[in-house]
Amino acid sequence: MDLVLFGPPGAGKGTQAERLVERLQIPQISTGDLMRAERKSGSELGQKFDSYMSKGQLVPDELVIDLFAKRLGQPDAAKGAIFDGFPRTQAQAEALDGLLEKMGRTLHKVVVIDVPTDHIVDRITGRRMDPATGQVYHIRYNPPPPDVRVEQRADDTEEVVRKRDESYRRDTEPVLPYYEAKGLVARVDGLGSLEEVTERIKAAIGA
Ligand code: AP5
Repeated sequence: MDLVLFGPPGAGKGTQAERLVERLQIPQISTGDLMRAERKSGSELGQKFDSYMSKGQLVPDELVIDLFAKRLGQPDAAKGAIFDGFPRTQAQAEALDGLLEKMGRTLHKVVVIDVPTDHIVDRITGRRMDPATGQVYHIRYNPPPPDVRVEQRADDTEEVVRKRDESYRRDTEPVLPYYEAKGLVARVDGLGSLEEVTERIKAAIGA
């Protein structure tokens, strides 16, 4: 099964993708995580990603599509994957269709996790991550265990998150009609407990 999790920053795409990995037995492919790993390696490409990410701007399509295509081609994604944060533009959506077609696959669903803008800043500024495992927490809604040392993402400031939200509304939401025309879009309410949202997604995808 190939599944897109779609939604604004802080909608819960990463959190829900992690929860679905075991259930669906397919990996999560997060372009944001791939870029952060590249940045951490200190490579020139990672520095290039950082110049966009730190300002809340989208990384140019050609760089993202190349990064994504390499990851999709890995053996663990041979039977499908959960796409978290990709596609974000029309060009990326069309590239995804082309890549899947070459593999004899088509998208199963595009699940939009709806969260109103006024919840986004609270969710993002309270987010913390365990750098050792990548596990995502929230200081109030999903607090880390006391013995786990957590970090805050560099782009999780209020100023940058507002830019990321603007970019979602301007560049990414307009991709939805493309998927609506194909009958692939399912909307789920992203408010509620992590378990409630997971159950809504499972119902939407028939899992
Ligand atoms: P990326 O890493 O993809 O960030 P994002 O889309 O802004 O999404 P987030 O990771 O911030 O949020 P999420 O929806 O995964 O929420 P989460 O589950 O963590 O991208 C970062 C940057 O990389 C972009 O700005 C861009 O520069 C670049 N980039 C990446 N992909 C790109 C692409 N395809 N094209 C171009 N550029 C690209 O949850 C958030 C918080 O809320 C957590 O603390 C969590 O614990 C909490 N939470 C989750 N669910 C709930 C709930 N139900 N109730 C209460 N709290 C909850």
